[in-house]
Amino acid sequence: MKLSKEEKKAIDKIKKLAKENNINIEGGKIRRTSSRFCLGVEHGDYNGTELFGVGTDRFIWMAYKPNGTDSVRLFSGNFPDDGVIEFKLGDVPKPKSKATANTWARFPYGVDYILNREGYKLTKGFDGVIYGNIPGGGMSRSASLSLNLILSLFDVNKIKVKNQMDIVDLAQAVENDYIGSPCGKLDQIMILFAKEGMGTHYNPAKRSISYVKLGKKAQDFRIVVMDTGMERPGLEKSTYKIRRNECDKLVEILKKTGYKISCLADIKKKKIFDEIIAKFSGRHAGLCERFKYIYDSQQRFYEMLNAWKSGDIKTVGKIFRADGIGLRDDYKISGPELETMCDIVRTIPGVFGERMLGGGDKGASGALVKPESVKSLKKAVDKSYPRSRPDFTDKYAVHVCKVVDGVKVFKDLI
Ligand code: GLA
Repeated sequence: MKLSKEEKKAIDKIKKLAKENNINIEGGKIRRTSSRFCLGVEHGDYNGTELFGVGTDRFIWMAYKPNGTDSVRLFSGNFPDDGVIEFKLGDVPKPKSKATANTWARFPYGVDYILNREGYKLTKGFDGVIYGNIPGGGMSRSASLSLNLILSLFDVNKIKVKNQMDIVDLAQAVENDYIGSPCGKLDQIMILFAKEGMGTHYNPAKRSISYVKLGKKAQDFRIVVMDTGMERPGLEKSTYKIRRNECDKLVEILKKTGYKISCLADIKKKKIFDEIIAKFSGRHAGLCERFKYIYDSQQRFYEMLNAWKSGDIKTVGKIFRADGIGLRDDYKISGPELETMCDIVRTIPGVFGERMLGGGDKGASGALVKPESVKSLKKAVDKSYPRSRPDFTDKYAVHVCKVVDGVKVFKDLI
């Protein structure tokens, strides 16, 4: 297999780190988990909408090998100061404990805790080295890491899980119940099921996955991620949690006034939407704005999916942009730096659409771009972003991404 330059670099780094830290991975496997790019509906997962997205080629690689004990020993090249993380299976700190709040070790601890809680018998430990190049905020670094650890522990312990959606639930539980991040399922789904060159469509009513090929007539395009260079704290410390609560609150209010719904996505008819807005926008203006974004973007979802099927990237981009304006003005989940990136690239011919990505406030924005326009996009960002946001001059980055498989295992590389 021919490895990309970036991948070769990552694997060389892992080998070096293994040697330096006395972690034995020789002859082991490498599991690579991707990042994800959501094409719709952003913030729809916890509101019950259908979802669509792709896996992208920024990854977490973990090289690992069973170590013949019941302990796990791990080193992360992204958090070298945390040193080697070592624990006996089944013996990890309590969920959400202060001592683990600031170390990446909360992920392996959380995986061990949740798998145990859910009745999986883990007896075999492993040695592993991790390295990743997924930017923080918007591309699902945490879900990629949780999935990687779960799948690898299952592999070492020869545990087979029939229903892949169970793995999504486990990875979400690591974040919700152990780490305390109130995330939905979007990230885990879009990574675990991602296939090269395909979009993944999730239907929450059936908990089903289907793959949607990009139409043959598709104009060639690139997915570009503009990392603002900001540190983004966990979702539990961000506007994300407030928005989730607001959406839940509106659902409660609507239920109490007789609407038979369980989430905002249940309201799809214009007549009912208008009725709710007329009734509640006086007293609950903010909640109605959040609802408006969910309603509008859900209405656009099938148009986007059909555009993808027919290869109409222009329309996919137009909807991506409209979602972005809704996320900015109605859902109010974007952030100033994210919008600076959007404002810069929006002016460039060949950019089909742009918007903030993921959990919100900070992190990265994304764009769908004609290949020949990528150069001018980069030039514009390099010129304008540091002028607007001088504090992040040395930290921002532009990533041009490919659509890839979500999970891959390599043997014979180490
Ligand atoms: C974060 C969460 C996801 C999802 C997105 C917004 O990435 O982890 O569950 O809600 O934000 O679409």
